[in-house]
Amino acid sequence: MSEWVTVAGRDELQPGQQKTVDVDGVPVVVINLDGRHYAIEDICSHDGARLDGGCIEGEEIVCPRHGAHFSIKTGAALSAPAFEPIATFPVRIHAGVIQVKDDRWD
Ligand code: FES
Repeated sequence: MSEWVTVAGRDELQPGQQKTVDVDGVPVVVINLDGRHYAIEDICSHDGARLDGGCIEGEEIVCPRHGAHFSIKTGAALSAPAFEPIATFPVRIHAGVIQVKDDRWD
């Protein structure tokens, strides 16, 4: 059973900001999108680049290496050269902090 991992204080990430954290050995980007937090795997499904620092355009993040777009909400690949989705993770606000967990193998 996976555990919740603390990412940041509740108000640390402002809308449009992102932060990369290690969640049980998996790099995860947590993004504040218009006041709601989302978490996606920090590995592009095209060629393994880090998405950390990628531009946020609306509800999409752009891979810095070749420009593939991914949905921040669902992880879906929205443009070439990526065709496979990236993982998304549950996020919660608990006791004043933002937490994420990798529940893929629970
Ligand atoms: S590594 Fe991300 S688009 Fe190529």
